[in-house]
Amino acid sequence: MTNGEHAITAADLDWDSAAATFDDEPDHGLRDPEVRQAWASRLRSWLPERASDVLDLGCGTGSLSLLAAEQGHRVTGVDRSPAMVDLARAKLAGRDAVFLVGDAAMPPVGEERFDVVLVRHVLWALPDPGRVLRHWRGLLRPGGRFVLVEGVWDTVAGAVPAGIPVDRLTGLLAPLAGQVRVEHLSDDEALWGRPVADERYAVVATA
Ligand SMILES: C[S@@+](CC[C@H](N)C(=O)[O-])C[C@H]1O[C@@H](n2cnc3c(N)ncnc32)[C@H](O)[C@@H]1O
Repeated sequence: MTNGEHAITAADLDWDSAAATFDDEPDHGLRDPEVRQAWASRLRSWLPERASDVLDLGCGTGSLSLLAAEQGHRVTGVDRSPAMVDLARAKLAGRDAVFLVGDAAMPPVGEERFDVVLVRHVLWALPDPGRVLRHWRGLLRPGGRFVLVEGVWDTVAGAVPAGIPVDRLTGLLAPLAGQVRVEHLSDDEALWGRPVADERYAVVATA
């Protein structure tokens, strides 16, 4: 989670400004049916079979929230960017979903507990991910799970590389989760709409 000079955090990135064009990336907007199907199929395999309460942290424009809702789950999304939250609310209008503006590291969900903490491309940008994971663990019901999609990207905000390596993430999860499963995603072109060479993965970890 460093660009070689200093750690990159969410503070380095202006997500409100990025919101309007965020969905232009194939894996963000999921507009290409093949890309959308690839994510829908992965997500179905990561989420519980029964209808569940999913907390999508750093939900962005709500693309994964929408897939989860389409698969029968109830979604709470949290993002610090009001522009992202506006887009997510519009994308999931009429669905069983609520979106809150707030800090993913300390989501404003009160006493509510969830079956799944779903996070894609967010944990890497939060300061002190170990502390954040411990807090998220407390938001899960017994038997709940983390679904974390992260990576180490070639270019983020002009700095290279940035992200969280899989070994670091699984090490942080080890004291918090019983079963930790890693899926490497770099070779699955359909997820990204193009070939990628950097490190991309998902971790499904049962609390
Ligand atoms: C790369 S985008 C990923 C969006 C979404 N998870 C997806 O996969 O399409 C990162 C998102 O995290 C949000 N974010 C970054 N830091 C945050 C924080 N501390 N609390 C809440 N949201 C945050 C940004 O506003 C942005 O929407």
